[in-house]
Amino acid sequence: MTALTAARDLFTTSFGREPEGVWSAPGRVNLIGEHTDYNEGFVLPFAIQHRTYAAVAFNGTGDIRVESTFADSQVVAHLDELDGIFPTAPGEAPGVPEWSAYVLGVAWALRALRPDAPLTGVDIAIASDVPIGAGLSSSAAIEGAVASALNDLWELGLDPVTLAQVGRKAENEAVGAPTGIMDQMSSMLGRPDAATFIDCRSLEAKSVPTGFRDAGLEVLVIDTQVTHAHSTGGYRERRESCERGAQLLGIRSLRDASVSDLPRAAEIMDDVTFRRVRHIVTENQRVLATVAALTEQGPRAIGDLLVASHASMRDDFEISVAELDTAVDAALENGAIGARMTGGGFGGAAIALVAHADLPRVSDAVEQAFADAGFTAPHIFTVSPSEGPRRDA
Ligand code: GLA
Repeated sequence: MTALTAARDLFTTSFGREPEGVWSAPGRVNLIGEHTDYNEGFVLPFAIQHRTYAAVAFNGTGDIRVESTFADSQVVAHLDELDGIFPTAPGEAPGVPEWSAYVLGVAWALRALRPDAPLTGVDIAIASDVPIGAGLSSSAAIEGAVASALNDLWELGLDPVTLAQVGRKAENEAVGAPTGIMDQMSSMLGRPDAATFIDCRSLEAKSVPTGFRDAGLEVLVIDTQVTHAHSTGGYRERRESCERGAQLLGIRSLRDASVSDLPRAAEIMDDVTFRRVRHIVTENQRVLATVAALTEQGPRAIGDLLVASHASMRDDFEISVAELDTAVDAALENGAIGARMTGGGFGGAAIALVAHADLPRVSDAVEQAFADAGFTAPHIFTVSPSEGPRRDA
């Protein structure tokens, strides 16, 4: 059964009638530019063909009722109660089951933006084929599908970048994960065959054709099955190190630092903070270089940049894990043009850029390397740049 059908069926069995429509939004992989988003820097992600679907209809009450295929029970909240539930205090768990905070958080963020709009209750059923916890932004896909549905049904007329900001507010303040805006922007602005270059300070974005298909290249995702959560632990610590680094350099954010500032940075801060700073500064450069290489030379020219990005995350930012390093090394040793971990790190997935004919060799080699290391078998599949949110039914 497709996730679209699953969302519609769940709606019908849970709420006893047909939905008014089904809306969907994609997950993403990040081609390059990791942890640069909350440093007001540059990223180059693309939306993937895996999507989350929200079947929705008005219910004639003031309640939002939410069902999903990945939770057993329904969550109900009155629209006027949302201000009492959110925001979630930093470091605390949300006052509703976490999965439902993505959905209710979007409704709450939309109400904050449009306090005067006469918003009425809705029933929502969610299903998804974005792997959860794999670093492919299953959460941004939920936020994007729900934000698109409510934007239409509540006739708010908000543009995609505003809806991305709504999704980020839900993630940061309702779920309590201190993430940047890359995932929501890449989901909302996805285009077939193109990555989205985003300036995370101005939120200006432009589509950059990847040329993968014409060059006979595929993007392989290697989901390590090591799950991660960005509401806890390492992600928050990295963010704090970046803020400390910027403060010591006397700048608003690490976006304002360049490679020529690194010698001074090395003198005035401890080694760990310095290496965190060096990752962000060099990663911003690599994003710009990747956009230039794609535009001027084509996708076969970006391999070394992907590899350098991985090395920087492994050695300087220290967010890789053994499974991700094994995936990257095995892919590169068996013909991948480039490979790197993608997303927030501490688990999740790696990507490898591979010529179509080399796919079996690279996949087999990665599987063998995982088996040899005694790791859980990875989940390996290809992704291609896909379109953003849409109404499916
Ligand atoms: C997660 C966050 C993003 C971004 C990446 C790392 O996916 O949600 O905002 O910070 O990690 O690049």
